[in-house]
Amino acid sequence: MSSRVLSQNQAHAPFGGVVPEIAARAHVESVDDLAAEALSEAGLKAVDLDGIAATAGPGLIGGVMVGLSFAKAMALALGKPLVAVNHLEGHALSARLSGSVPYPFLLLLVSGGHCQLLEVNGVGDCRRLGSTIDDAAGEAFDKIGVCLGLPYPAGPALERLALGGDASRFHLPVALKGRKGCDFSFSGLKTAAARLAETLHDDEGRRDLAAAAQKAIAEQLVERSARAMTLFAQNHARWDRRFVVAGGVAANSHLRARLQSLCASEGFSFTAPPLVYCTDNAAMIALAGAERLSVGFVDALDVPARPRWPLDETAAREDPTHKAGRKGAKA
Ligand code: KG4
Ligand code: ZN
Repeated sequence: MSSRVLSQNQAHAPFGGVVPEIAARAHVESVDDLAAEALSEAGLKAVDLDGIAATAGPGLIGGVMVGLSFAKAMALALGKPLVAVNHLEGHALSARLSGSVPYPFLLLLVSGGHCQLLEVNGVGDCRRLGSTIDDAAGEAFDKIGVCLGLPYPAGPALERLALGGDASRFHLPVALKGRKGCDFSFSGLKTAAARLAETLHDDEGRRDLAAAAQKAIAEQLVERSARAMTLFAQNHARWDRRFVVAGGVAANSHLRARLQSLCASEGFSFTAPPLVYCTDNAAMIALAGAERLSVGFVDALDVPARPRWPLDETAAREDPTHKAGRKGAKA
């Protein structure tokens, strides 16, 4: 009924990345006005709501705490149920905002902070098939883009720069190619592209490198998705072969086109949410909240904000992507 997005990108741009303190402060300053605007745009009063949903994680804890505390206060004051939503579940369900995408489906979730392949069987029921062992795909776009002199977040600008570039001029590594499983790794590609960027001083070179980086990132996402399709097809009937790509990087047209042709050759239907629902938005959290509420998943007012919150908690516990010790950049 209403979807308002307030971007903080301008506040972070001078620093080339998100500054946690700025993010938390910007949330405090805007959350009440934004919620009031959303209600008025929808033509509703707070008492008309069935429940209050808010992201409870994963993410930078300051911003998450602001949103969740605000939602708790509203739920308490209005006597409405509170639904704590995993941000990733919001992305996972976002394709259902604009069309009919029944469960189950295979999901490639590619955003600035996450890169995962998931089997989505229903609300609260996701199985992780693969995850990044270092950087997310969006992070690779952003960091390579910043090295090419583009403003943060650099994904959309890198896509524009890549137009007309010659992707075959530079050879960039595609990690884990041919390796079993569906995990991703982008740190080697990111470093290789960043080093090359330092040696380039003309626009043609920058265009060519942007095109090569975009192609290499898409290459890995496509190769891993093909593997996940084989696994998914083993457990699901032919008519359940649905593939969804979501998250900010799903806005990339080169990636969409590559995934679309993969789906065509593997017999999967292809869905990508409209761009406004690909990047972070509140409508997807409201949808996840509504689906949870409809099956009775509500939360107590002391539900914690969580900086880390895997969607598939069993897989995360039994087979952690980031093991203790020196395995993976973020371990
Ligand atoms: O889902 P999102 O809005 O926020 C997170 O939860 O991370 O994703 C933002 C990410 C950023 O890394 C941004 O550079 C990337 O999505 N992105 C793109 C494009 N549009 C946004 N990457 C590549 N091509 C694009 N067109
Ligand atoms: Zn997101």
